[in-house]
This record gives sequence, structure tokens and C-alpha cells, in this order.
Amino acid sequence: MSFFAPEKFTEEAIARLKTELTDKAIIAASGGVDSTVAAVLAARAAGDNLLAIYVNTGYMRLNETKFVSSMLENLGVQYKVIDASKRFYEGLRGVIDPEEKRKIIGELFIRVFEEEARKYGGKFLVQGTIAPDWIESGGGLRDTIKSHHNVGGLPEDMEMKLCEPIRELYKDEVRSLAEFLKVSVAHRQPFPGPGLAVRVMGEATPERTEVVRQACHIAEEEMELASERNEMELPWQYFAVLIPVKTVGVQGDVRAYGNTIAVRAVQSYDAMTAQALDVPYSVLKKISERITRELKSDVNRVVYDITDKPPGTIEWE
Ligand code: XMP
Repeated sequence: MSFFAPEKFTEEAIARLKTELTDKAIIAASGGVDSTVAAVLAARAAGDNLLAIYVNTGYMRLNETKFVSSMLENLGVQYKVIDASKRFYEGLRGVIDPEEKRKIIGELFIRVFEEEARKYGGKFLVQGTIAPDWIESGGGLRDTIKSHHNVGGLPEDMEMKLCEPIRELYKDEVRSLAEFLKVSVAHRQPFPGPGLAVRVMGEATPERTEVVRQACHIAEEEMELASERNEMELPWQYFAVLIPVKTVGVQGDVRAYGNTIAVRAVQSYDAMTAQALDVPYSVLKKISERITRELKSDVNRVVYDITDKPPGTIEWE
């Protein structure tokens, strides 16, 4: 049971930010609940001395750029959209190791933010890092489970000063803070900073990324519809992963040789542990049928991941 008090936290965080942000600042805004909450707090402390930057890395969800732009617009936060997808795709060319992917993405993010900060005159980088991000990145005396892009990827020679107003909070606390601040994405499912790059096992090429983007969209859409019909509870997190290992199948009466998509849906409280959700079989069937039909030139097999965390993690990389 958490005794988190959003009102008190907001007051104290804004007061701290007012002393910390002594110059212009930029905010890394991803459209998720963490960075949006950080943006609102920073905006309340810094006013016009704040610019939110949304980077389209090429590894974002379907229609995400449009969604985030309109949300920032509605929040009345000054923002800029940067399309850096080519740069990220090039940076990850030939990279298959998950930790290497995360570090490259983290560094590219920082470089893009530094360039934008230089143009804007920003001396601070505000981030929506939360407790599990740094704990799992080897914070304190803990082992590194995975380097969250906004922790393990930070280069040592970063020009800007880092400011992380919600780094001590857990997800449930961030959500209650978001509700208090009337942030529309308070209950949006989490999305990893490195995005779809860690949902394509192996090399995250533009082509493979497009496949997983569509598959994630189908899995999200079907589970959201099923939960609206009261056929299932909405999972805490739900998505698809591309396993680029080919298996033999048959489409019509023709041999198929395509990749596999794994669907994942978990319940969790704070992302530190998670339980694979018992999604109704009819919903899984619908997802499988749509994925193999709509992505038939790439995918001919769909499996469901029943691993809890631990021993798995929520994302596959
Ligand atoms: P794992 O996969 O470690 O993830 O069980 C726990 C939660 O964190 C999300 N996640 C990330 N979030 N930057 C983030 O901001 C990251 O690099 C990152 N990696 C994983 C994941 O989606 C889950 O909700």
C-alpha cells in the first residue's frame, strides 16, 4: 500500500525545480506518462524557459508522432518534433546485442537533444527517469538487468546538466501524480525508451521494425476492443515482439517460410515484477489471424509468451 501524496510531491518538486533550473531547459518528451508528468512539473517551474522535444526515432508506435504532437499542443507546452529516424536506423545497422542497442540509442538521443539545446540555448536536460529505470540499470549495489536508455546510455561528456524530477517514484506513484496533474495519458501503457528497437530481436532494420509496428498495433487494438467488450481486463502492458527466425508454414496451398511474432500481455503494479495475463483464447486467435493475414508476406506464426517477471523481464531485450 502506497502513501504517496501527489499534492505535496507537486509542491515540493516545483519548488526544487525552480532552484535547480537556473537557465533555459529542454525536456525529452516521449508521449509516455513519465516524461509528460516531468514536462508538466518543469513547465510549471520554468514557464517559457522550457522547450519540449519529441524525437521520432523511427522506432515509435504507429501514428505516435501525430498523437504526441496533439497532446503537447493541448497541454500548452512549447514543443518541437524532430524526425531522426534515418540517423537511428543507421546507428543500429548491424547491431544485434541488446545492451549495445540500448547504449547507441541513449547516446543518439542525447546528441539530438544537445543539438537542439544548442539551437535553443538550453543548459538543462529534463528527463522522466523513474526508479525502476535506474534500479534495473545497476543503481546502488544492484546487478545491471538492462541499461534503460535514459540511464545506461548517457555519455560521460554530456554538455547539458541532467534534471530528473521524478527519479524516486515508481510507476503507480507517477500515475497518481498524472491524475492529480490532469495529464491525459495517466493510464497509458508504458513504452520503452528504445522503442521498437528492443521489440525486434536481432538487427532492428527499418523493414523488420515496420512489421513489429503493425503487429504491436494489431495486438493493442484487439486487446483494447476486447476489454471494452468486457471480455478481459486491460493488461498493464501489451505488445508484440518480432522473432526473425523463419519457420515453415502454409498459406492457401502454398508453402510459406516466414518470421514469428510473440504476443505479450502482463499485469504489474510497479514493473519490478509482472504476471503473464490469461488472455481469452478467442482474443489471441483474433490477433493471430489478423497478424498472419495482414502481415502475410513476413509472418506465418504467432505465439503467446506465458513467462512471468521474474524470471523473464517485460520486454524481451
Ligand atoms: P523490463 O523489460 O525491464 O521493463 O521488465 C520494465 C518496464 O520498463 C519499460 N522499459 C523501459 N522504459 N526506458 C524506459 O523508459 C527503457 O530503456 C526501458 N526498457 C524497458 C518496459 O516497457 C516495462 O514497462
